[in-house]
Amino acid sequence: MIIAVDGPAASGKGTIARALAEHYRLPHLDTGLLYRAVGLSVARAGGDPDSQAEALTGCHFDESIFSDPELRSEATGALASRVSIHPAVREALVKRQRDFADQPAGAVLDGRDIGTVIAPHAPVKLYVTASAEKRAERRMLELQQRGLNPDFDALVADIRARDDRDMNRPIAPLRQAEGAALLDTSDLSIEAAVRQAIALVDAQLEGQRQG
Ligand code: DC
Repeated sequence: MIIAVDGPAASGKGTIARALAEHYRLPHLDTGLLYRAVGLSVARAGGDPDSQAEALTGCHFDESIFSDPELRSEATGALASRVSIHPAVREALVKRQRDFADQPAGAVLDGRDIGTVIAPHAPVKLYVTASAEKRAERRMLELQQRGLNPDFDALVADIRARDDRDMNRPIAPLRQAEGAALLDTSDLSIEAAVRQAIALVDAQLEGQRQG
């Protein structure tokens, strides 16, 4: 069984995807990490993430980058969003994601284009979202817990800029896939969001069993 989870930055999709993987005992891939690895590699090599040719060189990243704490930073998220608009970069990362999705054990993948491009055949699809303000609040708490003192308005602006780039790029833009169940986590605790996600997955599976 493939579970495709898509949604904007800080919507809770990563936490939900991990919880679903645990609940259904499936392997999980956070596809955002691949784009982050490309963005960080390009930046570290002094390349321009807005140039397709230079961004493409970042696709030959070393696997050790996945244990680099910088991979999960806000700055790397923005770099990832910039390199992800290039069709050649997306193409270079497709096979790895499709191979993961199509492994016999099944899989949970989360990202922006899983239900639309990577695994449109997935029997279960979720689109996880939340208001920009709620997402900025969550980011703010996360950063404060790490001892930082971010500016709330700047966080909202960053989130809106990232949404705009991810949703309006010509190739594989973020959108709710056909047949994807919508889960708005704006007013939900993590526990409640995970409970609802499991209920939505079970409902989609049941719907398919009944044909
Ligand atoms: O999920 P994330 O915040 O780690 O993703 C970082 C960026 O990577 C996101 O802003 C756009 C890009 N991305 C993408 O284009 N397609 C995916 N499947 C996953 C991420």
